[in-house]
Amino acid sequence: MAMSQCFLLLCIFFISAYAAKVQTKVTDNPADQLVAAVNSNRTANKLSSLYSNPGLGCLALQYIKAYQGDCSVVGGSDSKKPAESEFAETFAPNCGVQASSLAQITGRFLACQSKYAKPSEAFNDILIRNSKSLDILYSKNHTEVGAAVSGSDGGGPYFWCVLFSNGKPKSSFTTWTGELKVIRPGCFSGSNDQCNGNGANTLSQTIHLWPITGASIALLYALGV
Ligand SMILES: *[C@@H]1O[C@H](CO)[C@@H](O)[C@H](O)[C@H]1NC(C)=O
Ligand SMILES: *[C@@H]1O[C@H](CO)[C@@H](O)[C@H](O)[C@H]1NC(C)=O
Repeated sequence: MAMSQCFLLLCIFFISAYAAKVQTKVTDNPADQLVAAVNSNRTANKLSSLYSNPGLGCLALQYIKAYQGDCSVVGGSDSKKPAESEFAETFAPNCGVQASSLAQITGRFLACQSKYAKPSEAFNDILIRNSKSLDILYSKNHTEVGAAVSGSDGGGPYFWCVLFSNGKPKSSFTTWTGELKVIRPGCFSGSNDQCNGNGANTLSQTIHLWPITGASIALLYALGV
């Protein structure tokens, strides 16, 4: 009797430990949550769910890093964006992605704000603001997606980036070794990697690097390609 109760308890323990482990795959990374928000919104509109490509996610984080924390050049009249050649020349090598496996970027969202927002809020209130961004979200040209979230713990600014591509899932944005270089700080989607977008441990290093450019900057920059 005591034995069987003990066995049952052990089973419960293992099942809940396993459940917790499975859960961390999606819940402990704001970039994965952003991809989940994109896909659930697409499928609710009868569009295909997009493959979460880790290589593309890593490139999204590189895309954010290209801004070096400068929120003032995201959106607005003096907005800047990285040159297309940066994908092959800088972003891919930084991630360990083979330049020859790069596919076309069919859409992108980038937003930056001084305040941290949960992925679902970032998706609904910051990234998707107008009909042009909805056109990008609902495009039938995309087959895969990668997202990244980066920011600092000491008040921002926080960046969110979503890249869409029409590449072949699994054979685009691939690495030589099968392993991506994970560069902290910041979080990216698709790699089953636990990452905390608002936590002191992963993002505190950025405090000194990223100037705070305004008290309440909330800018949106969404463009089709
Ligand atoms: C999809 O996202 C848009 C923009 O945030 C929102 O207006 C719409 O209600 C969402 N649809 C669903 C089904 O979640
Ligand atoms: C899809 O791709 C075609 C061909 O490249 C392009 O003309 C069209 O504008 C794209 N559609 C969207 C919604 O981006």
